[in-house]
Order: sequence, then structure tokens, then C-alpha cells
Amino acid sequence: MASKSKTKRAKSKAAAKKPAREVVRLKAKPRAAKTAPHNGVPRPSSKPWGRAGRALDGVRILDFTHVQSGPTCTQLLAYMGADVIKVERPGVGDITRMQLRDVKGADSLYFTMLNGSKRSITIDSKHPKGREILDRLVKECDVLVENFAPGALDRMGLTFEHIHKLNPRMIVASVKGFGPGPYEDCKVYENVAQCAGGSASTTGFRDGPPLVTGAQIGDSGTGLHLALGIVSALYQRVRTGRGQKVLCAMQDGVLNLARVKLRDQQRLKHGPLTEYSQYGEGIPFGSATPRAGNDSGGGQPGWILKCKGWESDPDAYIYFITQAPVWGAICDLIGRPEWKADPDYAAPPARLPRLRQIFDTIEQWTMTKSKFEVMEICNQHDIPVGPILSMKEIAEEGSLRATGTVVEVDHPTRGPYLTVGNPIKLSDSPSDVRRSPLLGEHTDEILREVLRYSAKEIADIKASGALSAAEKKQEAA
Ligand code: COA
Repeated sequence: MASKSKTKRAKSKAAAKKPAREVVRLKAKPRAAKTAPHNGVPRPSSKPWGRAGRALDGVRILDFTHVQSGPTCTQLLAYMGADVIKVERPGVGDITRMQLRDVKGADSLYFTMLNGSKRSITIDSKHPKGREILDRLVKECDVLVENFAPGALDRMGLTFEHIHKLNPRMIVASVKGFGPGPYEDCKVYENVAQCAGGSASTTGFRDGPPLVTGAQIGDSGTGLHLALGIVSALYQRVRTGRGQKVLCAMQDGVLNLARVKLRDQQRLKHGPLTEYSQYGEGIPFGSATPRAGNDSGGGQPGWILKCKGWESDPDAYIYFITQAPVWGAICDLIGRPEWKADPDYAAPPARLPRLRQIFDTIEQWTMTKSKFEVMEICNQHDIPVGPILSMKEIAEEGSLRATGTVVEVDHPTRGPYLTVGNPIKLSDSPSDVRRSPLLGEHTDEILREVLRYSAKEIADIKASGALSAAEKKQEAA
């Protein structure tokens, strides 16, 4: 004991002799400094990449979406880690559960591929008890997403004012067909938006009718825009502490994706659009951006060309771009080396009036090879080409499976199915792609765990009919 206290004393003596500056320096290095925020951002995590949770962990979404545009948005947020609670009408659910059904009695692929990684609760939003549950959900969630017809949310009593009073932090995000204006009250589906957003009038061939595209730019495109609006509003909320309304009109979303056509509309005032094959064919332009067939929308002319097997395979085609820097390589490849020095072909402006003939000549070469051979050969010379891949080929493509862009998930009533995983890859936020929920699969879990209702209260709610009213009505019908 004695020798111990001697050592203690010696140590404190030595400490007392230390210069004051050193003591100050030691004090200035408290452990808390390591975790202190830097400009409001925590210091970099030392956890291994991909082990620091997911980007939207802790964000809870009240998902009032249906059909495609809204569900696309909330599915992306779920892939990013948000807890997405999909509220569905009892007994019926999202209408797409039953649309285009391929397996009897099982939710359709239409539904399952747009509602992965979400939880489902059934609530009759027009039942007084249902309204009470919804109010409670509003208080527990960060974002409400909806794509009802104009006015439907208000008719449920969920006006922005009501929501904001219950939860000032709530972000209320909506997809509508049109923004404020003459068409704001209209119901809108995908192709209505493609037409009203300027896509259809500029798609197709000049001598044919307007065309809609297979890519769902009105629905999924707008859902994607909405997701960006939501994460931006979440980020702003970090500073302001309050939520806001986020609105994406499908017409606006389509126009945003078709903006190069509005570019061309303005260029028309200054002369013909020389990169359109119509120019080379000597056909005058009208007053509006015309349909451009398969012309490239940029400054590098391109067209879809036949490949070996085109007679029997509808997808034996390739998109070929005559990019200026590799023009010499193209001439060599197709057996026309003399074009490199010919003033009619050597420079891009000289080629514009001859595009049809140039592509016909290149096609003579592509028709001797499969689209994959053309792809391989051209890429050796840095020539940009795109094989026309069928959905069958995409479904079977190993690299898309490897990156998680195409994912197979198992489903209790339909068995395994393919879905599109997260097309946005974050290096520190692995995507969580799970099967879609069955109708009301998580009702009890959400009432218990999220809303903290007691067993007795849950029994009372069930007896009230708020979770099953529509079901009863349907049975009665
Ligand atoms: N409990 C009780 N009622 C519910 C409910 C629930 N859980 N969920 C929805 N409803 C009711 C709504 O209150 C509404 O009733 P109301 O019209 O009496 O107020 C009704 O169901 C559905 O509304 P609505 O959105 O009009 O559905 P719809 O099938 O008639 O129209 C669209 C579908 C897509 C045309 C329309 O919703 C729309 O234009 N949405 C905006 C644009 C959009 O997203 N379009 C793309 C879809 S991919």
C-alpha cells in the first residue's frame, strides 16, 4: 500500500512539473472532438463501405400511391432504405393487383414489379376509425406520397393544412396529370401524358401517325422526378425543420425528357434541321418539330440498321452512330476507304444531305453480321452502336443479374418472378429488393409496432370495420 501511494505521489509531482502549455494541449484533444460535426456533417464513418446502413434509413413513407407513377417513386425510395407503408383499400387494394393477371389468384406482375420492398396495410380511408388511424400514421411518417385523381386526397380529409397541423415536418408529394391550368382536373394515364408532353408528336416516322413509346416515360418517368423532389425536400427539411408540398405533373415530366424537341422547335426559326434525314431528302420542314423516325436527337447522325437474320428475327437490328471522330474507321470497316478523302463524304456537313445513302451502304455491311458481331467489331474501333435487345435477351442477360438491375425474388402465391432492381447504384447504400407484400400483409404489425396500439385497441379497430369495410361491401355486392 505504502509503495503504491509513493508512486502515485511521484506521478502527480511529475504531472505538476509539466509545462502549462502541454496540459492545455491535452485538454484541447477531448474524445468528443472526434465526432464533432464539420459544417453540420458528421465526420466520415469508419465503417466498411456498404455497412453504414442505407441512404434513406429512418425515413418513413406513408404510401398512398396506386397504378404506376406513384408506386415507381415509392419503390425507389424503398430500395434506398425507406420504410414504405402502402395504404390500400380493404379487400381491393391497388387496382393493379388484379390487372393483366397471368397466374390465377396471384397478384399480377404489374403490381409485384412496382411494389417491392414495401409493407401493406389495409385501411378504409372513408371510415371514421380509418381516418383516425391515418391521422396517427401522418404523425409517424416523414413523407406522404399520393397519385390520386385531383381532389381525392382532400375529399378524404387529408388536406395539406390538416396534415401540416398534425405533423409540420411532413412532406406531401403528389403526381398529377397536369399542373395548374386548364387541364388540372383531368385524370391522366401514361399515354395521355406522352401525348400532352410533346413526346408523341415527335415520335414515329414523318409519313405516319404520332407514336407512343414503350418506355413508360409518363408514369415511371414522373415517379422518378417525384423521388428527386422528395429527397430534395427531405434535405431542405434538415435546415428548416418543416415539410412542404412536392408536385410533379406528368406533362411536365414528359416534356423534361423530351426537351431536345423543344430545342429543335426553336432552331426551326433559323433554318432547316440539317441532322434530320428529311433535310437530306429535300423535304421542307413545317412550323413544328417533325417526327424524326430513328434519326439521332444529337449532333452525331444515327439510324437503325438490319443485321443478319432480320428476315425472321424482329430484333435483329442495330443502332449505328456515324460519330465524326471515327468516320475513317467506319469507312475502312464497310469497305469504302475512298470516302475518307472524298469531299462529298469526308466532313460531317457534306455527309448530311447523303445520310440515307450512307446508312444504306453501312447496312449492306451490318446485314452480313449478327447484331452482337457488329457490336464487338465496332467497339474495337470505338464506333458507338447499340444492339436492339429484346426483353427476352434482357431477362436472360447475365451482367444485368450480376449488378442487381434484374433481380429474381420469390413470392408466396406466384413463385419466383423477375423484377427491375435499383437502377441507381450507391457505393455505400446497398439496395434492398424484396418481394411485394400481399394485400394487408403488415396491417397488424404496423398497428402494433408503428402506431403502438394495444391488443385490445387492435381488436376494437378490427370490429369497427375500418380495416375491412370495403371487403364486406364487396361480398354483399
Ligand atoms: N379507402 C377508401 N377509399 C379509397 C382508398 C382507401 N384506402 N384509397 C383510395 N380510395 C378512393 C379515393 O378516395 C377516391 O375516391 P373519391 O373519388 O370518391 O374521392 C377513389 O378511391 C380513387 O381515386 P382515383 O384516383 O380517382 O382513381 P381512379 O381509378 O378513378 O383514377 C387515375 C385513376 C390514375 C386516372 C387517377 O388516380 C389520376 O389521374 N391520378 C393522377 C395521375 C396519375 O398518377 N396517373 C398515372 C397513373 S399510372
